[in-house]
Amino acid sequence: MSADSQAERTLVLIKPDGVQRGLVGEILRRIERKGLRLARLELRTVDDATARAHYAEHEGKGFFPSLLEFITSGPLVAAVVEGDRAIPAFRQLAGGTDPVDKATPGSIRGDFGLITQFNLVHGSDSPESAAREIALWFPES
Ligand code: TYD
Ligand code: MG
Repeated sequence: MSADSQAERTLVLIKPDGVQRGLVGEILRRIERKGLRLARLELRTVDDATARAHYAEHEGKGFFPSLLEFITSGPLVAAVVEGDRAIPAFRQLAGGTDPVDKATPGSIRGDFGLITQFNLVHGSDSPESAAREIALWFPES
């Protein structure tokens, strides 16, 4: 177990496809088995403005409109996950963005995903992204 001074926090989403497919327990189990901790956990349906802010870096890209439509399409799980190197540790658990070409078997996307848009989970990609995303999703924390 790492000392609190080493703990890092990351924003994790189990996207609407993961909730609809009944994979919430499976994904949370993998997070916990890795040794990461759940600091916040909430089921919610996100509005267009929050989705746009979350994915602001992708505004203008071809997949942006369908990404927004998908992420707002139903309930998702938003979580703050913490632990030593939590940001890269969860990205490792998730696997690469394309569930077939990039994510390897053993990862969440590699084991359960087929199509890039429906790749089940989001994890912050840097300390700067994590701080921005946690403030967006859990402003009170
Ligand atoms: P990105 O931030 O590049 O991936 P990651 O989630 O691994 O950080 O893209 C955000 C999401 O946008 C990605 O999880 C799925 C979706 N997406 C597409 O639908 N098509 C694409 O070509 C890309 C690159 C992403
Ligand atoms: Mg990203």
